[in-house]
Amino acid sequence: MEILKLDSVQITYDGIPVAEDISFSLNEGEILGVVGESGSGKSTIIKAVVGLLNSGGAVKNGTIRYKGENLLEKSERQLRQIRGKEIGMISQNASTTFCPIRKVGDQIYETLRAHGKISKREAKTKTLDIFNKLNFMDGEKVWNSYPFQLSGGMNQRVAVALAMLLEPKILLSDEATSALDNISRNQVISELIKLYDMGTSVIFVTHDIDIVESICDKVLVLKDGRMQEYGSAKQVLFNPQNQYTKHLIQCTRQLRGTGYGKAAGNEV
Ligand SMILES: Nc1ncnc2c1ncn2[C@@H]1O[C@H](COP(=O)(O)OP(=O)(O)OP(=O)(O)O)[C@@H](O)[C@H]1O
Ligand SMILES: [Mg+2]
Repeated sequence: MEILKLDSVQITYDGIPVAEDISFSLNEGEILGVVGESGSGKSTIIKAVVGLLNSGGAVKNGTIRYKGENLLEKSERQLRQIRGKEIGMISQNASTTFCPIRKVGDQIYETLRAHGKISKREAKTKTLDIFNKLNFMDGEKVWNSYPFQLSGGMNQRVAVALAMLLEPKILLSDEATSALDNISRNQVISELIKLYDMGTSVIFVTHDIDIVESICDKVLVLKDGRMQEYGSAKQVLFNPQNQYTKHLIQCTRQLRGTGYGKAAGNEV
């Protein structure tokens, strides 16, 4: 079943269009990868879905329907109820998720309480349970830590855990793994896959075609705010129709193959 549907969406900053004619849909339990070079409008589209465009930004045209209802017609108060609980978001930098100088546990408790009646003890039990499922070494210690005491990778994994605790219907992941080392990256990806196992639909913004290949059902390719290609991951990655998509995929494959990357002794 279709859970999210964008139709002919146009987004502007200070009146200037940065995304034009964006249309796609997300089914329940599906992972959609969004790829494209820097500035192509990936974050803008994600932010528009939850009504959190940067200042000067506006959706000028089209509809963004969540479960059939146009989010563009919702009030800020209604959107606040939808964010986190219905549509969760993880951004590139977990430092925007957590306040560095307040304990992780207190912040998680506050977020859970904002979306439903829960005691601190219940919140802690639920959180430690998720930490445990995500193979955190010492969940109790993380709960009692300040974000500044944790590594970037650990903060990001806590952000994923928090998103999971709210059990959203849709998770928007905006380059959640791009600032991480390989080990943390793989941990976060495997955690996101668990989310998907829980029936959550995911929009996964990334520069990384390898990740798209391994986890996405559908792919949307963007360039300069316009859709270049949109379809099943299999079709877009292995039989691209669009010139730009071909180029993007070819670049990745070349880097990965022999003769190019650093492993072959050449500068990338
Ligand atoms: N607050 C703003 N005011 C004006 N223009 C903005 C603002 N925020 C973003 N833009 C513009 O919108 C366009 C799309 O930016 P966006 O951040 O969505 O790109 P992106 O694909 O997420 O890039 P990256 O891969 O670097 O994260 C860019 O041209 C950017 O300059
Ligand atoms: Mg971005």
